[in-house]
Amino acid sequence: MSEALQRAREFEEKHLQDVSEEKRPKFHMTGAVGWINDPNGFSIYKKEYHLFFQYHPYSTHWGPMHWGHVKTKDFIKWERLPIALAPDEDYDRNGCFSGSAIELPDGQQLLIYTGVRIAQQEDGQSQVFQTQCIAVGDGINYKKYEANPVISSADIPNGGSTEDFRDPKIWREDGKYYLVVGNRSTEGSGVILLYESLDGKAWEYKGNVASCHNQYGSMWECPDLFLLDGKRVLLTSPQEMMAKGLEFHAGNGSLCLIGEFDKEKYHLNREYVQAIDYGIDFYAPQTLETKDGRRVMIAWMQNWETSNAQPRNLYYFGEMTIPRELHVKNGRLYQLPVRELENYYDETVTYTDVTVDREISLCGIEGRVLDMTIKIRPANMKAMYTWFQVCIAKEGEMETVIRFQPKNNVIRVDRTGCGYPYDIVNVREFMVDSVQGELKLRIILDRHSMELFANDGEQAASFMIYTKQSAQSICFAAEGAVSMDVEKHGLKFD
Ligand code: FRU
Repeated sequence: MSEALQRAREFEEKHLQDVSEEKRPKFHMTGAVGWINDPNGFSIYKKEYHLFFQYHPYSTHWGPMHWGHVKTKDFIKWERLPIALAPDEDYDRNGCFSGSAIELPDGQQLLIYTGVRIAQQEDGQSQVFQTQCIAVGDGINYKKYEANPVISSADIPNGGSTEDFRDPKIWREDGKYYLVVGNRSTEGSGVILLYESLDGKAWEYKGNVASCHNQYGSMWECPDLFLLDGKRVLLTSPQEMMAKGLEFHAGNGSLCLIGEFDKEKYHLNREYVQAIDYGIDFYAPQTLETKDGRRVMIAWMQNWETSNAQPRNLYYFGEMTIPRELHVKNGRLYQLPVRELENYYDETVTYTDVTVDREISLCGIEGRVLDMTIKIRPANMKAMYTWFQVCIAKEGEMETVIRFQPKNNVIRVDRTGCGYPYDIVNVREFMVDSVQGELKLRIILDRHSMELFANDGEQAASFMIYTKQSAQSICFAAEGAVSMDVEKHGLKFD
């Protein structure tokens, strides 16, 4: 084992105890210590789900990237494993960036990632090289391939950037391996390239799956391409997006292209384009296919714009979303929390046909670790033209407000009162497709996070809320009258 990896593993082990379990979310994945970003290598290995992640154990800020490692049987309880990769070779000396994993026919696990090397030029300038590298191992220890990189600058089609060439996602299809990887083209914006291989080691460029043409941001990071409900879906995370209505917000965004795949040209003919998640904290999703054929996605529940605004006294920073089951329905991407969450339901409280026409709270409806679904129906015309809202994590001035305006079908989330002592983005609005003002909204809370799923997963929105844990109250209010059903499940994990 290299010195860099040994040092990182020892550091992690020594400091794991610095973060009490009470400070962590109950069922969302966090790093043992330090900083995490993108999920990597989300895949099945020896019948268990493995997840790696971008990891800088030494501080709560981004630094030379390692690959942290955990595994799970049910996406809810995560078991920590030793750090898998450290930047310890010349070709990855500035970081082991994002990538993916797959089980090989010989029972070993192959990791494919982006090695980053910054070279000092003679004129004093530095030049970045991003190449694709592999490591093979037994689920704990990995050996980097002696002939790395397996896809180098020379394998990029003409004019593509050698500096922005990252995040390979591998899969197996028709007896061959394929991967998609992000690159920056001569137009200055993202393209997703596809490579093919017979053994996972020797790769050949095949085609350009999709191009940004400066339409949706600039560089496209972390691509993932898969079949879902008869369609091909491409997920990617664009940098430097321009806001577009309420569909896309400015900055680092999330993009889903749905269409038909042209197998001759290796090209995705897109039929529909949408954001993946409409919240503030969501980036770099990655998917796997479960043993029973479900497509499950996990993402970094943070974003680059706000990740510098960290609460004080943290020993770890960053967490993943709850893994979500994906579907294409009515031409759109739908997502809902994995059904395994239901195995942890505890103390269910339900209400039916409650009239909300002022601020109310309901006995038994409170807490910061829960799965709650509310259904509302406007009871009069006024309710159609005004608003209904749910306040969560409420205590004194503290509250996070989810407000729905039926007339224009907009949900507005305002976390200004969530305890962030920074003037960062705290408000996000997004459209839903409710009919006649009826809304079904599922809210998943896990201490410092809130994930929303509107109308059976037609839209999802993720938010970190650093409100003190003493803020447990939930209340409802409406300006017109609405009739509301509530079903709240507490969650218990021991
Ligand atoms: C996305 C990303 C990837 C890169 C990694 C570095 O969040 O910028 O493109 O591989 O993070 O940590």
